[in-house]
Amino acid sequence: MNEDASPPPPPQEPCTLEECLRNRGYAAPRPLRSDGNAPVYRADDRDGSGRSVVLKLVRSAADFAAERRRHERLRGAAGIVALLDAFVARGHGGVIVTPLCAGGDLLDFVSARGAPLGAAEAAALLHTAGAAVAAAHGRGTVLGDLKPENICVLEPQHGIARGNVAVIDVGTALNVTAAYQPRGAGGGQPRHSEANDVFALGKSIANLLLFKLDSCADDVASLAALPAPARELLCAMLREGPGAQPRPSIAEVLAHPWVVAAGGG
Ligand SMILES: Nc1ncnc2c1ncn2[C@@H]1O[C@H](COP(=O)(O)OP(=O)(O)OP(=O)(O)O)[C@@H](O)[C@H]1O
Ligand SMILES: [Mg+2]
Repeated sequence: MNEDASPPPPPQEPCTLEECLRNRGYAAPRPLRSDGNAPVYRADDRDGSGRSVVLKLVRSAADFAAERRRHERLRGAAGIVALLDAFVARGHGGVIVTPLCAGGDLLDFVSARGAPLGAAEAAALLHTAGAAVAAAHGRGTVLGDLKPENICVLEPQHGIARGNVAVIDVGTALNVTAAYQPRGAGGGQPRHSEANDVFALGKSIANLLLFKLDSCADDVASLAALPAPARELLCAMLREGPGAQPRPSIAEVLAHPWVVAAGGG
């Protein structure tokens, strides 16, 4: 008798969301956001760390697989939120688990305090979020959907400071937000490129400096409160249109004296 001929076991149905959360030790799930593409919950991690986690319920299996793959490619990169866990639950494309950034996203953080980004905060943001972009580019990955909603503050009491922000939502490179892309980028030019990540980061910072939280800060020249080198750097990051000089690479942004000074030397 050939023992290898026994039929394979039937594929197991994935657990329900409630069962998966219980089995994996995530307790007291409660809604955090429901206004995006994917409902997002926070929960307590019962692994003994005492931390809170964010559970992102990605609807489609393909989007879940892509987000997990991109997280794995970016694993350990400074300034990018860590992937703690990823699993399939019945009726969902998949669940992505990341540590809760207690300060929430930059758009909410700056709106809630009612005061625009300051120059020192802008430099710190360029330093840390810029390092995240550089790490991604170094691994051949374009982030794509950089914007204030996709950068979070870790510890609210430390504010927008070097090492206290992290890029989240790394799974949507093909699904960029037009308001943070250069004009005309959809008309034949690639929307998804390293140069457009530089633009999106510059645009995010310009909007927060100008307190234009509706994504339509166009008048970069009005960033008058900034020191001249800072203004020049942001203007260079925001170059667009036919005939414009190329934008600096993220490595050039990080090497700018204003950003280097934000890193402490
Ligand atoms: N780790 C986290 N810490 C704190 N807040 C988070 C975290 N992850 C997500 N959020 C909050 O939830 C919002 C939505 O999450 P996310 O950006 O990952 O999904 P999305 O934009 O709705 O989905 P998509 O991937 O389809 O673009 C974020 O803008 C942020 O406010
Ligand atoms: Mg998002």
